[in-house]
Amino acid sequence: KIYRSALLRFAPDGSPLYDSDGLLATAPDAQGQERVVAAGSWQALQAQYTQQAGAQVQHLPGRLIAPGFVDMHIHYPQTDVIGAPADGLLPWLEHYTFPHEARFHDRAYADGVAEFFLDELLRNGVTTALTFATSHPNSVDAIMTAAQQRGMRMIAGKVLQDRHSPDGVRDDTEQGLIDTETLIQRWHGVDRLGYAITPRFAPTSTPAQLRGAGELAARYRDVWIQSHVSENLDEIRWVRELFPAARSYLGVYDDFGLMRERAVYAHCIWLDDEDRALLREKHTAAAISPTSNLFLSSGYFDYQKADAADFRYGLASDVGGGMSFSPFRTMQAAYVVGREGHAKQGFSLKPGALWWQHTAGAAQALGLGGVIGNLQPGCEADFVVLNPACTPLLARKTAQAETLDELLFAMIVLGDDRLIEQTIVSQAK
Ligand code: GUN
Ligand code: FE
Repeated sequence: KIYRSALLRFAPDGSPLYDSDGLLATAPDAQGQERVVAAGSWQALQAQYTQQAGAQVQHLPGRLIAPGFVDMHIHYPQTDVIGAPADGLLPWLEHYTFPHEARFHDRAYADGVAEFFLDELLRNGVTTALTFATSHPNSVDAIMTAAQQRGMRMIAGKVLQDRHSPDGVRDDTEQGLIDTETLIQRWHGVDRLGYAITPRFAPTSTPAQLRGAGELAARYRDVWIQSHVSENLDEIRWVRELFPAARSYLGVYDDFGLMRERAVYAHCIWLDDEDRALLREKHTAAAISPTSNLFLSSGYFDYQKADAADFRYGLASDVGGGMSFSPFRTMQAAYVVGREGHAKQGFSLKPGALWWQHTAGAAQALGLGGVIGNLQPGCEADFVVLNPACTPLLARKTAQAETLDELLFAMIVLGDDRLIEQTIVSQAK
């Protein structure tokens, strides 16, 4: 398959590459997985690729093809919790989130939300997500089944929470671990699906459950780990009371063997320099969730200190603490939050860097660099077709753009689901 349109992709160093008249060629590999074969300028590539037998060219004038977005942290069961008002994280969990998640013991209910959630991701141009389910094993079966039907690369896990949680969402220490192992064996590596060991956060798991999670993480090395850390000051005080011997909140996870490659911690706002060094040393990633951090008044991720420490990070919506499924809203909020970080002066994130954090950078942080989130040869062919003229104001702004930064920034600031004309997922046949 050959597409002709403007084309955005990323170099290995993260810088954006742009062809105003581009060519993208894809073909199935031996397993039937559609992959990028060539990407670049139409002028340079068309002679070689359009002459091949069976080549069909789809010409998309005025459109821009870009990598599918990767959401590093989201809660599919919180689709209906978006916009629930509360005074910060802990009241929000108690009054809205836990009561709502209790409904997912019902498989039919979970199926319905999973279907809506995945359609909403695709409508917003998100082709891969690392998502929490709930503590009910059912809720994992629901999202995995629905993602498999759509051919999406999706990573999910059953929440472990055996204390400080109400009836209806609290699991049993041992049973939660047994269910986790059963679900790893049922889903991890099936088609494009992956499993994530998912302790909700340190306060809602006993040391015994965290220890068991760490043991599973050591036995199943290519399974992901996901949790929350250092989001909110009340939460951090609580963790200090519960784990007085730990060096820090992040240190709790390290003590239980939950920091390694493919571990992803949401928020990472109130870290110290030792925590940042530990993230780097353990090849563990941060999922930055700026619309959630603004909604719950949690604080601001510090990009400058993250870059100085050189650990992996990427962007995430954190729906339903987050306010939108749209990657454009998340990138816009990240821009604002980046400025508000602890040393405000003279710092602004570049448009190409924001976009990278939600595509190739997020993929790299998940350990899927070169697999998704980019349109370089060999990548799986998950991509979006954008229509930069989808609203009157966007049409004006993008037509006036003289540089790539201006074009990308117009879309980051003004874009939403209307900008996504098509989302193409490269389902294996
Ligand atoms: N910490 C523990 N659980 C949650 C959750 O569901 N959302 C957010 N934002 N933080 C959490
Ligand atoms: Fe979250």
